Amino acid sequence: MANHQLLVLAGDGIGPEVTGAALQVLDRVAEIGGWVVEIERADIGGTAIDTYGDPFPEKTQRAIDKASAVLLGAVGGPKWDQAPKRPEAGLLAMRQYMGLWANLRPYHVFKGLEHLSPLRKAQVDGIIFRELTGGLYFGEPRGRRFLPGDLEVIDTLQYRRSEMWRIIKLAFEYARDHHLTLTSVDKANVLESSRVWREVTDELSKQFPDVPVVHRYVDASAMDLVLNPDRYQVIVTENLFGDILSDLAGGLVGSLGLLGSSSVAGTPGTRGLFEPVHGSAPDIAGKGIANPTGAMLSLAYLVGWSWSESEAQQLIESAVAESLAEGPHTPDLGGNASTEEFTQAVIQRLEHIWQRRKIS
Ligand code: NAD
Ligand code: IPM
Ligand code: MN
Repeated sequence: MANHQLLVLAGDGIGPEVTGAALQVLDRVAEIGGWVVEIERADIGGTAIDTYGDPFPEKTQRAIDKASAVLLGAVGGPKWDQAPKRPEAGLLAMRQYMGLWANLRPYHVFKGLEHLSPLRKAQVDGIIFRELTGGLYFGEPRGRRFLPGDLEVIDTLQYRRSEMWRIIKLAFEYARDHHLTLTSVDKANVLESSRVWREVTDELSKQFPDVPVVHRYVDASAMDLVLNPDRYQVIVTENLFGDILSDLAGGLVGSLGLLGSSSVAGTPGTRGLFEPVHGSAPDIAGKGIANPTGAMLSLAYLVGWSWSESEAQQLIESAVAESLAEGPHTPDLGGNASTEEFTQAVIQRLEHIWQRRKIS
């Protein structure tokens, strides 16, 4: 009987609501799979600031060390916007602590939700490989410098070639394995880091002669993703560009609540952090109406990547897709179902799919 150690960091805002929904799905999947899942919980972000005065406390680090995978809800909220150390800093510190340099963010229009995409006829189906532990998010120096009568602020866009190499290579491998085009997004007309990013992409391209490669500037690709989303299949880009384009992808498919993600160190079968792409959604927190799809898909990616349970991953993804096709839908998708109602629909689908498979 498989034994898995899961650490749940529910976090702030709708984080506990969506992870709670995903854990109900996990319960049933574990029963079906005959696994024992040991679930630990710890604090991250705003709730950790409230309890420990630190958005990424020592206790959470120790819990990560023991886990074979981490499921995160979301961090942040107006309560902590003026805190000396913000909740978001806890998430960034954790990604770096765990060495999770690759962030995979798939997006596609679900069957039955075509009407929600502003681009009803186009094929919207892609994945963003976002570099996660470099760039403007982590470069030094950073901060404020007081000048006579003025203030200087510094953020540094810093990358090592090796950091670019490993994420671009991972995206190439994915594109090759799935016979897809790779689009590398940069700002090479302005940024030195982007020029090196292009060089690395071109050099790697020689190792992947079968993968068509397109270079695009980030500003143009933001426009083009809206006009011609069918041109994009695998996107690889640096940290901040990936953050922005993945929310755009959420818009393309109709709701940010639909996207899950994997933050990993490149090798399947190893520990990763799995989190929806959206944030803590303070505007709907506590109302019981958050769309848990992103958290459920993140759970699916978790069981597939960290625990090598690919059948369970498929089961969760199919149950979610069928529930989205059939409804009921949460308000972000134009429905009036609660998180709980949608979750129950997913669990019922899970049962149906499982029964169908057992019979066939
Ligand atoms: P957000 O993603 O929280 O919300 C943007 C919009 O999308 C809101 O209108 C929200 O209601 C809606 N939305 C998001 N997720 C939804 C869901 N599951 N179901 C239905 N609707 C959903 O972004 P924001 O408002 O810019 O940020 C709020 C806080 O979250 C900030 O503190 C920000 O730093 C933080 N944040 C955290 C993460 C994370 O923890 N990974 C990601 C993004 C933002
Ligand atoms: C995300 C979020 C985070 C990021 C924030 C909360 C630090 O926006 O995961 O997309 O920018 O990486
Ligand atoms: Mn983001």
